[in-house]
Amino acid sequence: MTSTDKSAAHGAVIADPVPEPGDGPIVELRGAGKSYGNIRALHGVSLAVHPGRVTCVLGDNGAGKSTLIKIVSGLHQHTEGEFLVDGRPVRFTTPREALDRGIATVYQDLATVPLMPVWRNFFLGSEMTRGRWPVRRLDIDAMKKTADRELRNMGIVLDDMEQPIGTLSGGQRQCVAIARAVYFGARVLILDEPTAALGVKQSGVVLKYIAAARDRGLGVIFITHNPHHAYMVGDHFSVLRLGTMELTASRDRVSLEELTNHMAGGAELAALKHELSQVRGVDVDELPEVKDLTAPVANTDEGTS
Ligand SMILES: Nc1ncnc2c1ncn2[C@@H]1O[C@H](COP(=O)(O)OP(=O)(O)OP(=O)(O)O)[C@@H](O)[C@H]1O
Ligand SMILES: [Mg+2]
Repeated sequence: MTSTDKSAAHGAVIADPVPEPGDGPIVELRGAGKSYGNIRALHGVSLAVHPGRVTCVLGDNGAGKSTLIKIVSGLHQHTEGEFLVDGRPVRFTTPREALDRGIATVYQDLATVPLMPVWRNFFLGSEMTRGRWPVRRLDIDAMKKTADRELRNMGIVLDDMEQPIGTLSGGQRQCVAIARAVYFGARVLILDEPTAALGVKQSGVVLKYIAAARDRGLGVIFITHNPHHAYMVGDHFSVLRLGTMELTASRDRVSLEELTNHMAGGAELAALKHELSQVRGVDVDELPEVKDLTAPVANTDEGTS
């Protein structure tokens, strides 16, 4: 692709004419939106989640990321556009309905019980039992073995399944939640800012398991503020701003630099720099260069990237 094509593609929204490989999307939003009373939190959002691919949703605070995943996970209903699962329009009224269709959400504050052992948390709400009523009891052995096996399958090796989940690191807890969703048959995994509170190393671990889930054929929606994390595992990127989609592009059509600039609010920073240049005593030439990638770009000779 020439630089002209690439820069021309960076209008408000990049149309993506390249068909996505693999099966059709499991989950799709077409021009979807959500209003809370007269507050329009989300408007005209289109998104497709394919098996074995990671769709990243980026955006600043209040951009509408949580609203988007609340629609897909069955917590809230869309008020405009369409929401399709396996090609059919749906309108979930509870998260249970989404889960029944294989859509699992790992929330940032993870619904775990810190003092309970890892295996117990793994099966929380879906415990294995043996025997029949009235002598039915928890099958602790089977749960421990299964949790251990499933975690190992995802490459997570814990010394002791009995250790309280609260003693694991934030990254490990996220990984247990991912392995759990995979085990319980998720086809689509939604991760709400799984790396937000983590350091570099732990973020790397979580990114590794996002890739592992993808390799097992799950479609992943990865919500994040961090373009670097997104770019490490993402196949497709959507940037939300003030409830609308500012950019949607597959990996081959957007560079990390462009993504970072969109997230940093290239247009706003450029405007701010211009304003600062009017202020005496501020030397804007000393500031790093800010590119406004959201504005129409003239032909440049930067070459291809
Ligand atoms: N239940 C609600 N009632 C009214 N307005 C809401 C509600 N939930 C969200 N909003 C508004 O919708 C907009 C988008 O919010 P949302 O929580 O989806 O953003 P976000 O991208 O997840 O932000 P953050 O990064 O801070 O989590 C915000 O302006 C918010 O105030
Ligand atoms: Mg949010």
